[in-house]
Amino acid sequence: MIVCHCRGVTDRAIQEAVRGGARGLAEVTARCGAGGRCGGCRPLVELVVRLELEASGRAEAAPAAALAARVAAAS
Ligand code: FES
Repeated sequence: MIVCHCRGVTDRAIQEAVRGGARGLAEVTARCGAGGRCGGCRPLVELVVRLELEASGRAEAAPAAALAARVAAAS
């Protein structure tokens, strides 16, 4: 799915950036461009980064309610 429409960046590209070592929005933007233009996608980019970090064990899992709040805020 396209997360950043300005740059045409998918969730998979963001996940790849995280797997490649990116740990936050700025590093993901540097690697794949997501979030580097209008900024409207940044909450969703940050969510994808967080979920990928959690999935890879590089961040503690957030409670489900906190994730739901982030998704609601991003949409
Ligand atoms: S939608 Fe991602 S920078 Fe505009």
